[in-house]
Amino acid sequence: VARHFVGDRLGSGPVGTVADLGPGQGAVLKVGGQRSAVYRDESGEIHAVSAVCTHLGCIVGFNDAERTWECPCHGSRFDVDGSVLQGPAVDPLRRLSADADGEPGADES
Ligand code: FES
Repeated sequence: VARHFVGDRLGSGPVGTVADLGPGQGAVLKVGGQRSAVYRDESGEIHAVSAVCTHLGCIVGFNDAERTWECPCHGSRFDVDGSVLQGPAVDPLRRLSADADGEPGADES
């Protein structure tokens, strides 16, 4: 996994934690030591997947208009549950568990 992306966050908006996410908002957050692509849907449910693109390991960013995760490196796109919408990535973003408080689990496997 490439670790050369050192920016804190590629998403837009002043979101620092999962609790800051309003309905329909997504952000890349560092949760449990790993970069997580976290989206809160309109019903308040948290969708958390790894922010590491499965193509070559860049960090995805949230597209507010489309509500998708997009990779800045080669243009792969994923839905909020990590499924591939557009390549070159083939594999989905890894799903992370979210507990009742909406905090994604620190799944390092
Ligand atoms: Fe994400 Fe290539 S690293 S599309």
